Amino acid sequence: MEGYSTIGGEGGSVLDDPVINKLAKAKGRSPAQVVLAWHVKRGTIPLVKTSRVERLPENINVCDIKLSEKEMASIDALHRGLRIFNPINWSSKLPYFQ
Ligand SMILES: NC(=O)c1ccc[n+]([C@@H]2O[C@H](COP(=O)([O-])OP(=O)(O)OC[C@H]3O[C@@H](n4cnc5c(N)ncnc54)[C@H](OP(=O)(O)O)[C@@H]3O)[C@@H](O)[C@H]2O)c1
Repeated sequence: MEGYSTIGGEGGSVLDDPVINKLAKAKGRSPAQVVLAWHVKRGTIPLVKTSRVERLPENINVCDIKLSEKEMASIDALHRGLRIFNPINWSSKLPYFQ
């Protein structure tokens, strides 16, 4: 399964989250890397986008980040039931989403 907007999209507030930042600090990695590692460990392929070439290695090098079950659960618990994308807003002519 592919993940879109996996670090929150434009201005993604997930990178400011205290839980994410605490984990990032403890592991000596960036908040984006911790979030991407969480996606990978869940089995989602994160399609992260950047316009800054210097961020490419940062966003790619996440597979070595170890997250314990407790750490995974602490990120899981950030679930707020928010829906960022609602396909019905793209077009009223998308029958799959009606
Ligand atoms: N088919 C669909 O329905 C659909 C919907 C949404 C998205 N997508 C796909 O998913 C891709 C990614 O989605 P997205 O662009 O919405 O969201 P995203 O990848 O979660 O976030 C992109 C934003 O994060 C910033 N960023 C990237 N790496 C970072 C890092 N290491 N640290 C801090 N900020 C970082 C980028 O800024 P900088 O550019 O300044 O680095 C940009 O503002 C898109 O390119 C698109 O192909 C598809």
